[in-house]
Amino acid sequence: VQTIEIMQGILARHAKQEGPLLPILHSVQAEYGFIPVDVVQIIADHLNITRAEVHGVISFYHDFRDAPAGKHIIKICRAEACQSVGANALSDRALEKLGVEWGGTTANSSVTIEAVYCLGLCACGPAAMVDGKVVGRVDGAKLDKLLAEAGA
Ligand code: FES
Repeated sequence: VQTIEIMQGILARHAKQEGPLLPILHSVQAEYGFIPVDVVQIIADHLNITRAEVHGVISFYHDFRDAPAGKHIIKICRAEACQSVGANALSDRALEKLGVEWGGTTANSSVTIEAVYCLGLCACGPAAMVDGKVVGRVDGAKLDKLLAEAGA
């Protein structure tokens, strides 16, 4: 199906909504897994706002991505409680091993790494989430294992 047709369906579904930009973006991401560049223009034209405004919202909300994610999504908690038990070193280790920045995806498309701010597992930090499942007490060895299992 063509982008135009998919987008017509999505825009029609949100036509009567007030403040439709966020719901539209959520629908687009549900459809594509990310927000494709050509879709940004279609949304901007439809809502009569600029591309920059649409981009601003996409980059403000961590939920949205502008490129396809890897096969596995690993999130590392960077909030205070986890920081106090070594989350920073863990984050550095993960980024270095994967060779990407936050939000980046490995060259083999196996892993996307994201920062998250509290997973409700503060008592068992450092905490991480792998494909939606929380993991506590992540030390270096556990991290290496998680990355290896994810194919990074
Ligand atoms: Fe990391 Fe709460 S601060 S889980």
